[in-house]
Amino acid sequence: MRTIHVPAGAPYDVYVERGLLRSCDSMIADATGAKRFAIVSDDTVFALYGDAVTRTLHEAGYEAVAYVFPHGEASKSHETLLSLYAFLCENQITRTDALIALGGGVTGDLTGFAAATYLRGLPYVQIPTTLLAQVDSSVGGKTAVNLPAGKNLVGAFCQPKCVICDPDTLSTLPAAEFACGMAEVIKYGMIRDAALFETLIAHDADSISSVLDDIIARCIEIKRDLVAEDEFDTGARMLLNFGHTIGHAIERYTDFAWTHGQAVAVGMMLVSQRTAGQNVTELLSRCLAQYHLPTEAPAERAVLLPLCANDKKRAGGSLTYVACKTIGNGTLHRVPVADFMNTMG
Ligand code: NAD
Ligand code: GLY
Repeated sequence: MRTIHVPAGAPYDVYVERGLLRSCDSMIADATGAKRFAIVSDDTVFALYGDAVTRTLHEAGYEAVAYVFPHGEASKSHETLLSLYAFLCENQITRTDALIALGGGVTGDLTGFAAATYLRGLPYVQIPTTLLAQVDSSVGGKTAVNLPAGKNLVGAFCQPKCVICDPDTLSTLPAAEFACGMAEVIKYGMIRDAALFETLIAHDADSISSVLDDIIARCIEIKRDLVAEDEFDTGARMLLNFGHTIGHAIERYTDFAWTHGQAVAVGMMLVSQRTAGQNVTELLSRCLAQYHLPTEAPAERAVLLPLCANDKKRAGGSLTYVACKTIGNGTLHRVPVADFMNTMG
């Protein structure tokens, strides 16, 4: 088993091993100190993995109840959050108990925010089941729900007590969701690790499974390093936003018909075309295509760029964007919004 220690303000371990889901009881109990658990999961994931997690806890003598909500981004809402709080009250979940987020980034963000706020905070554990959640959202303690005005507008930093990452769960993940996670994996190679990028270029969507566990662990290490350096997202952690400002504009332009991964893929391309050499942009394009991700924008830059002006990451009149002039070396550029428009236009 790989164990990756995250030295955040409240430090914790990320465990990566196939089959872990079926024997995670002691890890969860040791990390949280709890004996009663509320498993939070969406309907798709709970149908696939809910029994396995519940059984391992019950067999070890722990109590576990389950809150299951409809899958999809629409559930990352204050309505679901209020219904989850009500469930926790009805089941008399107290601060000595713990929450378990079993699922993708939606489940992790929702559960983490409930854990940060219910009874002024109780422990929680992440069991990520999408590639995106395994390499990104389950680590680092960003939790949130969406508002009608935009994504992740209410949230808190709240680190999990541990993260249990079982790559076997990815066997049931739809190809489109896997591709979404691969966009973030490619991003890690671009911003921090040329060797990881080379591995990605040497494989494709069919052959990557042979090295997937190593890749997941490497991405978690990169995220661990960025979180250790900048837990509260005021500096180095912003490198994780490579391609995301234009990506969010593409998500809005397509009315979320494009997945986050597709939008980020093209966001990275559009930034590279203006900030990196042709060789870097061509390699990025080849890599994205190998994992069935798009490389062409759904609209002209002149249409997409105005949508970036409302980006959540805007601070006053400035935006911070990430450039990768060479692969593996992302750099941050804080510029007035007008300069961003000129550079990217
Ligand atoms: P998700 O949780 O909605 O999962 C995607 C879909 O896959 C869902 O329909 C789910 O039911 C299904 N699914 C999950 N695991 C499965 C499995 N093993 N087999 C079959 N189906 C499975 O979405 P996501 O892509 O995991 O995460 C996106 C969310 O993560 C967004 O809300 C985003 O804002 C958030 N996010 C958070 C952070 C962070 O740092 N907190 C980072 C990146 C993204
Ligand atoms: N996924 C962005 C972050 O964790 O900072």
